[in-house]
Amino acid sequence: MPIKFPFTKSKSKPEPQTPGLDYKQLPRHVAIIMDGNGRWAKNKGLPRIAGHKEGMNVVKKVVRHASNLGIDVLTLYAFSTENWKRPKTEVEFLMKLPMEFLNTYLPELIEKNVRVETIGDFERLPEHTKTAVQEAKDRTKNNTGLILNFALNYGSRYEMVEAVKVVADEVKQGNLDVDEIDEGCISRHLYTADLKEPDLLIRTSGEQRLSNFLLWQLAYSEFWFTDVYWPDFNEAYFEKALYDYQNRKRRYGGV
Ligand code: FPP
Repeated sequence: MPIKFPFTKSKSKPEPQTPGLDYKQLPRHVAIIMDGNGRWAKNKGLPRIAGHKEGMNVVKKVVRHASNLGIDVLTLYAFSTENWKRPKTEVEFLMKLPMEFLNTYLPELIEKNVRVETIGDFERLPEHTKTAVQEAKDRTKNNTGLILNFALNYGSRYEMVEAVKVVADEVKQGNLDVDEIDEGCISRHLYTADLKEPDLLIRTSGEQRLSNFLLWQLAYSEFWFTDVYWPDFNEAYFEKALYDYQNRKRRYGGV
């Protein structure tokens, strides 16, 4: 049974809802693998794309809530470099979702001071997807609130390979010494160069793997898994993840 969240008004300010959750000690960057859309749809006798459509509505809820809570960065895995292998109609539907989402939601993102960003191989997205997302990025680029970071055509290994190529080229050109290559150097060459690393990774649908998502950046993040399918995810589950995060001890390899 999905947990119901007692919010009625979509734009209401958050009141403490989860007993024990400290709203002043929240993770700064939350990353989410939004999984289970297809299974959710199948269970209801619906086509897979119905799951993605409902998943988009959940994105709205979670973005709104993360913004209200004052979280700095929300990174959402919307389309992986491996997702091109899906049936053409599903890929086409997924590629239209950002436009559909932004058509109805961009004014609210602007009003809420949200900045839209992306990570991934942006250039290889279809023109209509790029146009919609670029417009959102441009129109929100000076916003200082939540960074809503869509991983679109994103693959972590590809990201690292590209970073290594750039670093190698800098060495070849004589602009970088091999001894200067350290973790900071690699981080600065990833799509996420300007972002802090995720504190918390959430994955829905019962799967417990990273699926080529932020392999470098998640090195010290806390992982939180739920069996709930993404279309059934809501603000209450999000807060449960935040609560559990607060009760973890992050040691970064120390004691
Ligand atoms: C994985 O579920 C989900 C995706 C590949 C797409 C996720 C996209 C959304 C939730 C909507 C994104 C919204 C915007 C605004 C970009 P799955 O299809 O693999 O589910 P399954 O494992 O049950 O088949």
